[in-house]
Amino acid sequence: MARTKNRNQAKPEDAPSYEKVRVEFDEGIAWVAMNRPDKRNAMNPALNDEMLKVLDRLEVDDACGVVVLTGVGDSFSAGMDLKEFFRDLDRLPYTQQVHKRRSAWQWQWRQLMAYPKPTIAMVNGWCFGGAFTPLVACDLAIAAEDAVFGLSEINWGIIPGGNVTRSVVAAMNLRDAMYYVMTGETFDGRKAAAMGLVNEAVPKKRLRPRTRQLAKVLLGKNPTVLRTAKIAVRAVQGMSWELSDDYLMAKGHQARYLDPEQGRTHGLEQFLDEKSFKPGLAPMRRGGKGANADLEHVPKRLGRRKM
Ligand code: COA
Repeated sequence: MARTKNRNQAKPEDAPSYEKVRVEFDEGIAWVAMNRPDKRNAMNPALNDEMLKVLDRLEVDDACGVVVLTGVGDSFSAGMDLKEFFRDLDRLPYTQQVHKRRSAWQWQWRQLMAYPKPTIAMVNGWCFGGAFTPLVACDLAIAAEDAVFGLSEINWGIIPGGNVTRSVVAAMNLRDAMYYVMTGETFDGRKAAAMGLVNEAVPKKRLRPRTRQLAKVLLGKNPTVLRTAKIAVRAVQGMSWELSDDYLMAKGHQARYLDPEQGRTHGLEQFLDEKSFKPGLAPMRRGGKGANADLEHVPKRLGRRKM
């Protein structure tokens, strides 16, 4: 992911190349796609290892302001690879199994749930089993109306592990979680939206434009405040009201201290002194010192390129 001066220039020698994960940059959006379309993007150890590295690099890549996780072709992901992640690893001694499986857990929930940049899952097709974990770990999710979801584990004799059960309990109500874990029935994107598993479902042809539109909204926000807000949403879930109150106070101070554009000060000025905007109806005008510091160079230097 090294910088290129010309957006059409070939990838420089020192840029890492990935096979099982495809990354494209598009004006601050990193489109990260699981890339095993012939296997319906089933996640094998090689894909998991690469994804961990990709997300790790994007975390500190100024060209990336928002990550969109999706799949190449007509699948989001058919879950864990039944051959390479289960049968093949089952043959190894237990310590080696744990070692080879670790990269899956690392990126699918540990890394994504604490990711410092906004993440959107774009569910473009099949989404089964293990794919629910990164789906839920992304901050937001948009699905194609005809995408097919399923907690298929029960159909082939296992429980939804890999924190899939934990993920669905976090994102679905108990009855729905119980129903789909126990029956293994499939449901479509419309149903996923109605259940709150994804934010919305759109016709397939609108999936990428709508996802892009949402990513652009996020790119327009103050990144320091956005990062703090999304981390806080997850963190307070497990806290008492007393602890959460104190935590949010401290987080708010942290954001003010770290914010290079001092958004809070300028927001108050623009509403109270200039009367130039209404925060209830629109975002403040950014552009003070430090505003867009992360991304102002992106369209000029990078535009659209592959990693
Ligand atoms: N693990 C390993 N391989 C998988 C896979 C998975 N989870 N899902 C699909 N594949 C492979 C198939 O074995 C097949 O490989 P082959 O071409 O070498 O025979 C290829 O991907 C295409 O799969 P196929 O079943 O022919 O595609 P389809 O479009 O008819 O059906 C699915 C797609 C997703 C409905 C079907 O592949 C399926 O049920 N996959 C398993 C889903 C699952 O239970 N995942 C949970 C894992 S925790």
